[in-house]
Amino acid sequence: MTAGLPRPPAGDAEATTHLLEVRGLTKTFVATPALRALDLTIAPGEVHALLGENGSGKSTFIKILSGYHTPDPGGEVFVGGHPLPFGAPDSSYDLGCRFVHQDLGLVESLSVADNLSLTTGFPTRWGTVRGRELRRRVAAALEIVGLDLDPHQPVSALSPAMKTGVAVARALREDDGRAAGLLVLDEPTATLPVEEVRHLLEIVRTIAARGIGVVYVTHHLDEVFELADRVSVLRDGQKVVTTSVRDIDHTTLVHHLIGRGLDEAHAASTALPVGEDVVLAVADLAAGPLRDMDLRVRAGEVVGIAGLTGSGRDTLLPAIFGAVARSRGTVRVGAGARPVAGPRDSIAAGLVYLPADRKLHGGVMSLTARENLTLPRLGDFWRAPLLRRRAESSQARDWFARLDVRPADAAERPLFSLSGGNQQKVLVAKWLRCSPTALLLDEPTQGVDIGAKAEIHRQLLAAVAAGAGAVVSSADIDEVVALSHRVLVLRAGQVVAELVGDEISVATITRESLGSGAATQASAA
Ligand SMILES: Nc1ncnc2c1ncn2[C@@H]1O[C@H](COP(=O)(O)OP(=O)(O)OP(=O)(O)O)[C@@H](O)[C@H]1O
Ligand SMILES: [Mg+2]
Repeated sequence: MTAGLPRPPAGDAEATTHLLEVRGLTKTFVATPALRALDLTIAPGEVHALLGENGSGKSTFIKILSGYHTPDPGGEVFVGGHPLPFGAPDSSYDLGCRFVHQDLGLVESLSVADNLSLTTGFPTRWGTVRGRELRRRVAAALEIVGLDLDPHQPVSALSPAMKTGVAVARALREDDGRAAGLLVLDEPTATLPVEEVRHLLEIVRTIAARGIGVVYVTHHLDEVFELADRVSVLRDGQKVVTTSVRDIDHTTLVHHLIGRGLDEAHAASTALPVGEDVVLAVADLAAGPLRDMDLRVRAGEVVGIAGLTGSGRDTLLPAIFGAVARSRGTVRVGAGARPVAGPRDSIAAGLVYLPADRKLHGGVMSLTARENLTLPRLGDFWRAPLLRRRAESSQARDWFARLDVRPADAAERPLFSLSGGNQQKVLVAKWLRCSPTALLLDEPTQGVDIGAKAEIHRQLLAAVAAGAGAVVSSADIDEVVALSHRVLVLRAGQVVAELVGDEISVATITRESLGSGAATQASAA
């Protein structure tokens, strides 16, 4: 069932075999081609994974489908046999296309309910629905994704995982206008804890079983094998392969992705000795759902933080940094006797924070990548009255080369024009460059491709080997396991387990995150 799609015009029978057909789609930004002559088809009920390194053109393709970008002349897209007019979000919607964008596209200041009634950015479809009916629809939309939220709270109050849930609910909600025919998800699991990834994959399977075609973008290859029927890989804007998932293995897929094999040997923190000096001391912290938090991080140590949504994991790092209010507790950095109070104070003391939400708190999208890099310690380059631009530029080039920020001239481009994963690399580099005493990193490799992720880990561990201490909070348990000397597992606002050495494993962290009751249920099932 390609529910809700208008009937194709007579005589266009050939095009009806595909739910989505893309022919020769090209998009050039200024002089750089982001997408080159893409051909792609999606069948009704098919889950099609779209892979590619950071900056390979995935989001560009999706933004063309949604009407946000207009492609170069010559390309064509058909949805259910109908030509898709370009640059027209309403037409895309009317043809049954639904999107969860990489940045989710939620309006932070609006309530959950208001966000659920937005379609293409304007309150059109549900705009005339009132009162009880609207409440029913909002509840139904949230129920599909299994979210139990107060619809009146602002989206800004939600954790990254809950925001993803709201964005998915919005894409899938029922609507008088048109039912969905094609669902496009751009890295929906980038910040989702493992339990919620599983839940999302279930939802996608159910959707596809109803005949809806799904385009699924991810950097997590295991999701491809678990979920997708077919997979396409983009490299530098060009499609290098489309194949049935049954016909490809992990190693071959990696080769298509990065053009070589991946050095799977993980940079491991455990090889690094932990020093004596305490570089970060958190005592008796309470904030949001968190209480009684005590944490001491030593020079050369990586402390991992794990926990599901609602565990308080999202609050811990911003509370230590002082970006969210603490109801009690003190934070001391390095040998400083005086507790630090807020973000400015923290940075001055050598404590830096990479937030989970890069668009909202992480970077200044209108500034260039270089300006974002050097924002925190511009003093280094300031020789009155001239900014020593050359020194700044060469340092930026150096860092961007280390983390492989693309394209090659990314330094002088505004941050918004970089792909999601490349923005993330810039923000990681920004804090590593400062040689901080201690780093607080929330989801440090979200949206980063498999090759760049390994490089970020190496650079982080180099900073730690040089004497910094780090706290890494991640929904990606593999990442927590790979990086941490010690792991704290949070549940219901408290530390329920502290794991060291061999105790640090995906299985143990998952079990402790779920709690013994849930673990027993899971193993009984
Ligand atoms: N608004 C824009 N202006 C100029 N260039 C852009 C713009 N948006 C994207 N680009 C460029 O187009 C190319 C493809 O970017 P795109 O966002 O499609 O990559 P992606 O495959 O989604 O990567 P990621 O995995 O990091 O999200 C990149 O080189 C990027 O810098
Ligand atoms: Mg993208």
